[in-house]
Amino acid sequence: EKSKETALSHLFFTYQGIPYPVTMCTSETFQALDAFEARSDDIVLASYPKCGSNWILHIVSELIFSISKKKYECPEFPVLECGDPEKYQRMKQFPSPRILTTHLHYDKLPQSILKNKVKILVLFRNPKDTAVSFFHFHNDVPDIPSYASWDEFFRQFIKGQVSWGSYFDFAVNWNKHIDDENVKFILYEDLKENLAVGIKQMAEFFGFSLMDEQIQTISAQSTFQAMREKSEETHGAIGPFLFRKGEVGDWKTLFSETQNQEMDGKFKECLAGTSLGEKLKY
Ligand code: A3P
Repeated sequence: EKSKETALSHLFFTYQGIPYPVTMCTSETFQALDAFEARSDDIVLASYPKCGSNWILHIVSELIFSISKKKYECPEFPVLECGDPEKYQRMKQFPSPRILTTHLHYDKLPQSILKNKVKILVLFRNPKDTAVSFFHFHNDVPDIPSYASWDEFFRQFIKGQVSWGSYFDFAVNWNKHIDDENVKFILYEDLKENLAVGIKQMAEFFGFSLMDEQIQTISAQSTFQAMREKSEETHGAIGPFLFRKGEVGDWKTLFSETQNQEMDGKFKECLAGTSLGEKLKY
């Protein structure tokens, strides 16, 4: 039986105003990250948690495999800001291109990423499905603490008192860079609607030239079903929890009408009239 917590605030530590899970991040690692040396051919994949980061990591790894015929392997935990502080020293040995996934705000990325104009693919998902996915992740995975109820999680999510902070702050921060030349936004919902088109756009953005047939092969390997089937092989015991349902609109299973309105209001307050607000069709 998992312990039920009302709020998991004691499991966070705050660094530069944002709560991070103590089990995954440390201030020593954040300090070491400041000195991280990015290369201009690094690939950054940025997203708020549960927007589908493992999905695009898989796709971009397959794109690299297609053009280089070398399997993309990263011996480190892929999230840039997680791990021990020596990780960045070890990463100096990795061959290019390195894929760096992150849940950080644009402003909190190491300076060298910004200075080198590293290409950044930013993945967004509508906040309602993101919240529901995040809740299930906490409450379904046996080894991480769970919330007392969906209502409790919803309250904390709206306040931004969850791991990596507020979805809305993340969105407002990244929205400022939506037109930057080295930044490309993609949506979970668009990938669901047409995966091949999304993969083609990613390949073009990174300057990988692939034939349609290769794009089709990657699409077939990147569907939810295909990835879920292999999830234990690729991600170990946590695999099936990372590939839980993979649908658009699952928020309807948990949101009350009041919560629906509250989140619409919050979204409007933060992003109405912005490019990202329009893109997410709010
Ligand atoms: P659900 O919990 O709604 O199923 P992350 O990788 O950032 O932790 O995001 C996890 C979410 O992305 C999960 O959402 C997961 O099912 C979904 N996802 C992962 N791979 C997917 C795929 N190939 N197609 C659709 N959704 C996928």
